[in-house]
Amino acid sequence: MDDSRKHFDTRAIHSGESPGPDPGSHVVPIYQTSTFIFDNAAQGARRFAGEEPGYIYTRLGNPTVRALEEKMADLENGEDAVAFGSGMGAISAVFLQLLSAGDHVVSIKTIYGCTYSLLTGLLKRMGIEVTFVDGTDISQVRDAIKPNTRVLYGETPANPNMAVLDLEAFGRVGRERGITTVVDNTFMSPAVQRPLDWGVDVVVHSATKYLGGHGDVIGGIMVGSSEFVSQVKEDALKDVGAVLGPFDAWLLIRGLKTLPLRAERHNTNAQVVAEFLENHPAVSRVHYPGLASHPGHELSKRQSIGGFGGMIAFELSGGLQAGRNLLDSVKLCTLAVSLGACDTLIQHPASMTHSSLDEAQLLAAGVHPGLIRLSVGLEHPDDIIYDLRTSMEGA
Ligand SMILES: Cc1ncc(COP(=O)(O)O)c(C=O)c1O
Repeated sequence: MDDSRKHFDTRAIHSGESPGPDPGSHVVPIYQTSTFIFDNAAQGARRFAGEEPGYIYTRLGNPTVRALEEKMADLENGEDAVAFGSGMGAISAVFLQLLSAGDHVVSIKTIYGCTYSLLTGLLKRMGIEVTFVDGTDISQVRDAIKPNTRVLYGETPANPNMAVLDLEAFGRVGRERGITTVVDNTFMSPAVQRPLDWGVDVVVHSATKYLGGHGDVIGGIMVGSSEFVSQVKEDALKDVGAVLGPFDAWLLIRGLKTLPLRAERHNTNAQVVAEFLENHPAVSRVHYPGLASHPGHELSKRQSIGGFGGMIAFELSGGLQAGRNLLDSVKLCTLAVSLGACDTLIQHPASMTHSSLDEAQLLAAGVHPGLIRLSVGLEHPDDIIYDLRTSMEGA
């Protein structure tokens, strides 16, 4: 579909769905093949030389995966996209593409645990230095920049404490200093927030979450300029190889068609659940940008679309033990990591998704040891609230 002026809901269904060599197929087929046949030796050579378009080998490109990439580029308002076998595949590829030994990254301090350990572990070992700053204060981002800073990295709302980053200011700092800005948009999805519209250069996703939406696939996506996407395909994807399989791409295409509808329900459910939690005596603090009490409420209202996402973090007055009791008591909510699925998922970041950080690192990253993270699902909100209330009151 080439008419990008159509509504987001329409583009989620139609973008990337152009009929291929099998025009009778209503949906994009799964091209479950490792390699593609050349008509003759000269054609094979031309394809490898980039002189003729066409598929060669699925690590280098596949029509089902391409349909997903086209849909995601359109939904994020980017020029192009490239898919990966996981969110970490996408994030590590972007860092590998942009950084060399001796370079420096400024990252906001609250980020997904494995992104944190990638920056402080593998990348550090390869001679890349990182400075973590409080992203809610954009002057800290600006002040941490050094002559060798190549990437400004952010996540918003941050996993897991829901701190909100000013995307427009972040993009502006990057542009002023000639540094690439990269934002993880996993927690919102392009149905709720589009960082490229605010001047950010590159968006990454764990497609495992809201994009797939059903908890049945692991995948990643990066969206950016055509030039950067081609470079990543040529180097960090082709030579590292964290590719997405055709069947997983097909599941993600299927999930994306209902993203606008699912996002609406995630947003409204999370708002109601956050308000319930904020008014419950067992809860000491709720972190949800849709609440007027959240420090990033006004900013989030400005930079998000139609709601505040489905992710909530909260702390119980009884601290860590009360949190553990809650996790062990819930019956409807699923005790599992990940997020963005149809069902409500509950987990404890300090001992689960962010367990690669030690206690001091958790505190420095703004992750309270008693914080509970809730990915509000698509169930009826009264049922989610009933489960949380009875579990907290019995705990
Ligand atoms: C914000 C965020 N980014 C990236 C990732 C990594 O994604 P994946 O598990 O698909 O590698 C996660 C996973 O939980 C996440 O929450």
